[in-house]
Amino acid sequence: MAYQVIIPAAGQGKRMEAGKNKVLLELNDLPILIHTLNVFQMDKACDGILLAINPEEEEEMKMLLEENQITKILAFVPGGKERQYSIHNALKQVKKDGIVLVHDAARPFVDKELFRPLIEAAENKGAAIFAVPVKDTIKKAAGDIVAETVERTSLWAVQTPQAFRISILKEAYQKAEEEDFLGTDDASLVERLGQEVVIVKGNYDNIKLTTPEDLYFAEAIIRKREQ
Ligand code: CTP
Ligand code: MG
Repeated sequence: MAYQVIIPAAGQGKRMEAGKNKVLLELNDLPILIHTLNVFQMDKACDGILLAINPEEEEEMKMLLEENQITKILAFVPGGKERQYSIHNALKQVKKDGIVLVHDAARPFVDKELFRPLIEAAENKGAAIFAVPVKDTIKKAAGDIVAETVERTSLWAVQTPQAFRISILKEAYQKAEEEDFLGTDDASLVERLGQEVVIVKGNYDNIKLTTPEDLYFAEAIIRKREQ
C-alpha cells in the first residue's frame, strides 16, 4: 500500500483570475496547497511527496510548509511550461520502484479513505485513475452546431489522484517526450503504451478548483464537512 506522490503546484491559475497562483489562495484561513498536502501528510501509507513549484514561489511555499508542519517533502522540483513537464521533472526524482500517485495541488478535497482500491488496482494492473460518471448530456459540435450526442453511459469525468507502477509511468513519460505528445492527464500517456488503465469510482466533491465559482463550491464543501 505504500506510495510516493507527485503534486504539481507550478501553475499560473489563469482561469481562476486571482492574479496569482490559485494554490496559494486561502480557504478557511489555509492555502489550498496546504489543504492538499495535509491529506498526504496525514496518510501513513504516503512515503514522501515530490512537489513541483514555480522557483519564484519557493521561499513562500517553504515557509508555509514549515508553519503547517508538512514534513514529508522529498524534493522540490522546478515546474515546466505545461503540467506534463512539471510532472516529468518530478518523476525524474522518483528513485525507488513501487507505486507513485499523481495528484493536483488544486484538488484539496480528495479523501484518503478511498485510496486503497486505487492503489491496489495500480499494484495489480499497473495503472488506475479516480473518475466519476458524467452527469450532463455531452454533445460533440462542429462550430455551434451539434454534430452528435455522445452516449453517456460510458463517459467518466476523470480526476486525480492517478496511480501507477513507477516503471510504467516513467516509460510513458519517456515515450511522450520522444514523440512530442502532450496529454491532459497522466493516464493518457500510459494508454499510449497499450497499458490498461483501471477506473476506480471516486467522489463528486473531489473537485479541481479551476474558475472563480469553484471557490463558492469549495466553501460549501468545507461547511458541510464541519457539520
Ligand atoms: N500545474 C503545474 N505546472 C504547470 C501547470 C499546472 O504544476 N505548468 C499544476 C497546477 O498548479 C495545478 C495542476 O497542475 O495544481 C492542475 O492544473 P490546472 O488546474 O490547469 O492549474 P493552472 O495551470 O494553474 O490553471 P490555469 O490552467 O487556469 O492557468
Ligand atoms: Mg493549467
